[in-house]
Formats: sequence, structure tokens, C-alpha cells
Amino acid sequence: MNLEVRNIDKTFINNKEENKVLGNIDFKVEKGQFISLLGPSGCGKTTLLTIMAGFQKADSGEILLEGKKVAKPGPDRGFVFQNYALFPWMNLRHNIMFPMKQQGVPKAQREERMLELLRMAQLEGNEKLYPHQMSGGMKQRAAVIRALACKPQVLLMDEPLGAVDFQMRQLLQEELESLVMKANITAVMVTHDVDEAVYMSDRVIVMSRNRGKILSDMSIEMERPRDRKSGIYAKYKDELTAVLKRALDGE
Ligand SMILES: Nc1ncnc2c1ncn2[C@@H]1O[C@H](COP(=O)(O)OP(=O)(O)OP(=O)(O)O)[C@@H](O)[C@H]1O
Ligand SMILES: [Mg+2]
Repeated sequence: MNLEVRNIDKTFINNKEENKVLGNIDFKVEKGQFISLLGPSGCGKTTLLTIMAGFQKADSGEILLEGKKVAKPGPDRGFVFQNYALFPWMNLRHNIMFPMKQQGVPKAQREERMLELLRMAQLEGNEKLYPHQMSGGMKQRAAVIRALACKPQVLLMDEPLGAVDFQMRQLLQEELESLVMKANITAVMVTHDVDEAVYMSDRVIVMSRNRGKILSDMSIEMERPRDRKSGIYAKYKDELTAVLKRALDGE
């Protein structure tokens, strides 16, 4: 599905003070494209992603999926929350089953899909664990596969690998990338990590702190899987780091 973000504005009012978070955000994501959103803390990345998901409304502007306006959440869009948001009162098995149950997927099919997902995330055998019994990385992987359970066409991820250690993170980046590419999923991922953005994305959009504007929209033109040791990879990382510095400086 292609996804259009059209002239999105959002202002929060806290204690009578206006905080303009998103100003005229406008971009288009082609079907199967992988986009990363990068920007300083507080610049509005989560806000934008939740508007795309339909969890909250923009003040003006619209989100279009295949040309149709999005007004509320739907099974066509999977979402990975910044703080995983697994249900603490459900074990891993039930956390993954839940969205499929909601969608009325028959039991045998649910079971099969759950096992497939657990294998994918190297979580087999942990079905009975509750979130408080899992490590940060396990919770994060669980949140990603839960978002994939209903085979969404669009995947919205808010720092999905933020809590994973370096080695596991590279492994998961590779897995997540091949997963998304294979299923031809349209993906938007928020990240703080320049390397992760270059490794995974077709395009990287950098937002500035200053009234939530887009500071840069850069295409990464490299074959997949990407060679982290190549000169062009380093060049993209340098360029992005420079843009991010401008964003942090408040441009
Ligand atoms: N529901 C809300 N009510 C009032 N203000 C909010 C609300 N949600 C977010 N904000 C404000 O909007 C701004 C952007 O928040 P948001 O969570 O989108 O940032 P972010 O870019 O995701 O940051 P981080 O990288 O730290 O996760 C912040 O100033 C925040 O205080
Ligand atoms: Mg955020």
C-alpha cells in the first residue's frame, strides 16, 4: 500500500501554552518502501507515527492509504510502540494471539502463525513467559512479531530496536529488513540511530526540533543487503550525521 502524509499540523496545549509539534508535514511513501524518521528527542516523531496509525487526529491535513483517508486504526497497519506495550497480564503466547483473535482468525491458523512468528524472532519455548519475565530485547522482538501477526501491509515502528544490545541489534536489523522486503511491506520506522537508518532504509527523513519541519529527505541508493564497510555507506552516514547535527542545533 502506498501511504501519503499530507500537510499534517499538530499543536498541543499544555497549561495554556501552545506547543506546535508538527508544521505542514508532507511526504509520500511508495508501496514496499522502507522509510526512517530521524530527529531530536521531542521533535514529534511519535506524534506523527500515531497520527499515521489513526490513534490520534491531526489538527489539519490527512493521511491516505492507497488514496483513501485514514481516520482510525486498522489491521492493515501494524504498530510497534516505543515502550513495546506488550500486555503485562498476558504471557507471550496470548500477547501474540490477541490481535489475531481480534481479527477473527481461526484457532488452528492462529496457532500456526504464532509458532512461525516465534521461530522468526528466536523466541520459541518462551510462550509461557510474562513480559516482566522477559529481557528488554525479548520484549522488543515480541512486540515486532505481534505487529506482524495479522500480516499488515503497512508497518509503523517507533524505535523497535532501541533496547537491544549492539550484536543482537545488527542481527535483528538484518532479520527485520529481509522480513519487510520479502512481504513487500511498506514501513516507517522511527530511530535515533544513523547507522540503523542507512542500513535499513530506502529513504531517511530528518525532522527538525523547530516546529516539526522536515529538514532533509535523503534516498539511500545501495543494493541490499548493505555493505557496512563500503565507502558509499560511510558517506551516507556522514551526510546524515551532519543533517542531524543541524536538527539538534535547532535549525
Ligand atoms: N498528548 C500530549 N499532550 C501534550 N503534549 C504532548 C502530547 N504528546 C506529545 N506531546 C509533546 O509533543 C512533543 C513531541 O513529542 P513526541 O513524543 O512526538 O516526540 P518524539 O520525537 O517521539 O521524541 P522521542 O525521540 O523522545 O521519543 C513533545 O514536546 C511532547 O511533550
Ligand atoms: Mg518518540
